[in-house]
Amino acid sequence: MYILATAVCLLGFASAQKVTNLNSCLTKEQNLRMDCEYELTALSPVPTCTYNLENNVVGSTDPAMSPDPTFKNRGTVTIMEGSTTCRLNLTGLSDDKPKNFTCTIKQKETVSKSSIVEKKLLLPCSAWSEHGSMLMMTVTSLVLLLEAKWL
Ligand SMILES: *[C@@H]1O[C@H](CO)[C@@H](O)[C@H](O)[C@H]1NC(C)=O
Ligand SMILES: *[C@@H]1O[C@H](CO)[C@@H](O)[C@H](O)[C@H]1NC(C)=O
Repeated sequence: MYILATAVCLLGFASAQKVTNLNSCLTKEQNLRMDCEYELTALSPVPTCTYNLENNVVGSTDPAMSPDPTFKNRGTVTIMEGSTTCRLNLTGLSDDKPKNFTCTIKQKETVSKSSIVEKKLLLPCSAWSEHGSMLMMTVTSLVLLLEAKWL
């Protein structure tokens, strides 16, 4: 397990700080979900993650960045436990026109990625991504079980 964790750290921290992916999908409650995957070059400080729609703050993990009134109580931004993915959950996404969302990760540097979101073109969030972490946990538990058995 330690070796695995070390390998993950090395992979995660080897290159420059950057946002590698910004994906969006529509949850079954018709909410917009965006996953912003990033890479860091240092373990600390804890990065902050902010989502913008054009110049308006949609939501942020930084308490100093308060959301635009349009998005108050509609967006939640969380850095997923034990990962380098920052998720936006936004209710009431309108269908009128394409929207330019930006995810910004601030740590040593400030890096961002933008993505155009159009509600009618969004794909449903797959069961895979919802159960992905469950599967990972199952695999981890299995490894732990096997290790326990061999000790
Ligand atoms: C997204 O937000 C809505 C409304 O606040 C909530 O009902 C839903 O459970 C949230 N989904 C996730 C995955 O956090
Ligand atoms: C979306 O917004 C970002 C940040 O403001 C900007 O850099 C980018 O050019 C915009 N993309 C489009 C297609 O307008």
